[in-house]
Amino acid sequence: MNASAPDMSRFPELSAPERILLGPGPSMVDPRVMRAMVTPVVGHLDPTFVRLMDRIQDLLRYVFQTANPLTIPISGTGTAAMEAAVANAVEPGDAVLVCVNGYFGARIAEMARRYGGEVQTISRPWGEVFTGEEVRAALEQRPAKVVAIVHGETSTGAEQPLADIVRAAHDGGAIVIVDTVASLGGVPLSVDALDIDICYTGSQKCLSCPPGSAPITFGPRAVAKIDGRKTPVANWYLDVTLLRQYWGEARIYHHTAPISSFYALYEALRLVAEEGLEARWGRHRALAEMLWAGLERLGLALHVAAPHRLPSLTTVRVPEGVDEAAVRKVLLSEYNIEIAGGLGELKGRAWRIGLMGYSARRENVELLLAALGKLL
Ligand SMILES: Cc1ncc(COP(=O)(O)O)c(C=O)c1O
Repeated sequence: MNASAPDMSRFPELSAPERILLGPGPSMVDPRVMRAMVTPVVGHLDPTFVRLMDRIQDLLRYVFQTANPLTIPISGTGTAAMEAAVANAVEPGDAVLVCVNGYFGARIAEMARRYGGEVQTISRPWGEVFTGEEVRAALEQRPAKVVAIVHGETSTGAEQPLADIVRAAHDGGAIVIVDTVASLGGVPLSVDALDIDICYTGSQKCLSCPPGSAPITFGPRAVAKIDGRKTPVANWYLDVTLLRQYWGEARIYHHTAPISSFYALYEALRLVAEEGLEARWGRHRALAEMLWAGLERLGLALHVAAPHRLPSLTTVRVPEGVDEAAVRKVLLSEYNIEIAGGLGELKGRAWRIGLMGYSARRENVELLLAALGKLL
């Protein structure tokens, strides 16, 4: 055993640059949210924290546009909420239909297999979206208990219209899981108006909060399916039949809530509510249109057809002969701007530009366009 003290010259005090974050997340964080994180830590059953939990749930119902009682933040990132959705909704042997038109749809399918789902996938090329008819036809061929789909595919920049998909799934007797990690709070969506059964997001994209909490909501059909399970949820940490006893009136300890992350989420949700959802959706759309027009003026081609472009995440095709990684490197080192390269099928072929929450500001769009103009 070596208990000698480490050489502290190897461990300097923490420091990080203040980047202009225009990638697929995390987005920039409003200083008000950062200040909320230094609020004193209290116990996870402290009366002040319990009151805060109720307020967070109320604000989440506003952001999801739902009256669902079972609406909570998961302690973890977007993937944890995805896993909470799948682990609770899917029982071993359940037929599951997953719509895959990008990286995150494929992740849902893989998770559903691991929870014992009999998974069938339908696919579209990356950058395209599904029609209700495609889901209806797949369910006629092979009925499923659960249908899962991504609203804003961060890997492709496509926005999936949901109304027809949800209707087709319900007509086929399935409940619907919708991933809104890259869209909630920036792109119009109403859980109740669309009649979505399970919807989840992450804190670090359009909600502009540091990564670490992931809101999720369960509607009545989903709760009935979970309550009717023959087997316990295989993931103890994400089992909502336990979590709802902590978030509901019983306040039974389940795990120690990440207090400071929930302070941050509360302040981020207050900011959304102060701005108002419709104004926020409008801001994201207006800035995205400004970005799209500017990119096209630079002669760049956008990967997704105009009607299906996701305002919060734009994929740009890398022009022939341009080293996409080199451009990103210079943007970061000389302009302090982070954008991302392509993921999966689009690796090396596209840039991904995010305009999410506090990052979605006119000055950021203008700076990025000016920098790209100079570099290309
Ligand atoms: C659409 C989508 N789903 C799920 C996730 C996973 O979230 P996280 O990386 O926060 O775990 C992401 C993250 O980028 C995403 O964009």
